[in-house]
Amino acid sequence: MRKVGIIGVGEYLPSKILTNADLEKMVDTSDEWITTRSGIKQRRLVAKGEAASDLAIKAAKGALKGARLKPHDLDLIIVATITPDMQFPSVACILQDALSAKDAICFDISAACAGFVYAIVIAQQFIAAGTCKNALVVGVEVLSTITDWQDRNTCVLFGDGAGAAVLAPVKSGGILSGYLGSDGSKKGLLMLPGGGSRNPTSQQTLNKRLHYLKMKGNELFKLAIMTMTKAAQQALKQAGLKCSDLDIIIPHQANVRILMAVAKKLGVSKDKVYMNIEKYGNMSSASTATALCEAVKEGRVKKGDIVLLDAFGAGLVWGACIIEW
Ligand code: UT7
Repeated sequence: MRKVGIIGVGEYLPSKILTNADLEKMVDTSDEWITTRSGIKQRRLVAKGEAASDLAIKAAKGALKGARLKPHDLDLIIVATITPDMQFPSVACILQDALSAKDAICFDISAACAGFVYAIVIAQQFIAAGTCKNALVVGVEVLSTITDWQDRNTCVLFGDGAGAAVLAPVKSGGILSGYLGSDGSKKGLLMLPGGGSRNPTSQQTLNKRLHYLKMKGNELFKLAIMTMTKAAQQALKQAGLKCSDLDIIIPHQANVRILMAVAKKLGVSKDKVYMNIEKYGNMSSASTATALCEAVKEGRVKKGDIVLLDAFGAGLVWGACIIEW
């Protein structure tokens, strides 16, 4: 099996900023509540007419530039998203066309907030098996389009953005392990009930606001801590490493309190946990992807570092991978 590494990263955040002060004018909330309960101060929102693929293209171009590859070098594109431009075709196919990456196999995956980690592990396996050589993985979300802006329980938490990574064979280091898990019995904790084949869009589904995401945040909170901790431990075990070997944790950004609790359970110092939730909120699959990109660009990830990607989301699904940078 070939060793596989991440050789380029990119991101794109839309320019429109929605602050907690703005939200105070929209629903019964406060900057104090949002900050202390989640750690979020502001989030980015797309402009009218801007869709997932528009964000994905910009993040992908950054990752390709970092990898010093051209679109025609790609033979695989995987996009992790729960907010595609449309039901089909996939965002990956739209992206292929926009980039002119004519030789790439393209598909989207639905693994919510763990989508980027899932897609990294899938791409790694394609490359390790020799099926593909160069893969582009994108985590992109336009959560503002499925957020109920009248529901204070959820609307303060989410944002829009995209992050991307290019994977390729490497001589040493690279992805040392990938651990994925799922528990469909908890599917009801976070879902978008309307618009699918179960509840096709109708005046009734619109009246019931089923086209917006529904979340039982409090129940998810405890599961997120437990599951992200377990995923990290399993990925470390697979790689033959200990928590003390970690140089940096790049987690899904759902809540600062979740991340601090996971660090405590793992016995890892809080300053090793990379966070961008304050600026962007929870961007589902784009959270881990942009956090990785920013950590690399800020010099927080250096050659030889042991990096943990760790994510959890609707499904439930979770995943972690260890990378020697
Ligand atoms: O991305 C992966 C999946 N998502 C997650 O993992 C999210 C995990 N959950 C969380 O991060 C937290 O549960 C939240 C940030 C969503 C909520 O924090 P919490 O400490 O669990 O609050 P809560 O839901 O227990 O609500 C506490 C109170 C409630 O009032 P009562 O019933 O105690 O009177 C809520 O109605 O806070 C109220 N509340 C708000 N108050 C002001 C809920 N939302 C707001 C709000 N502003 N925006």
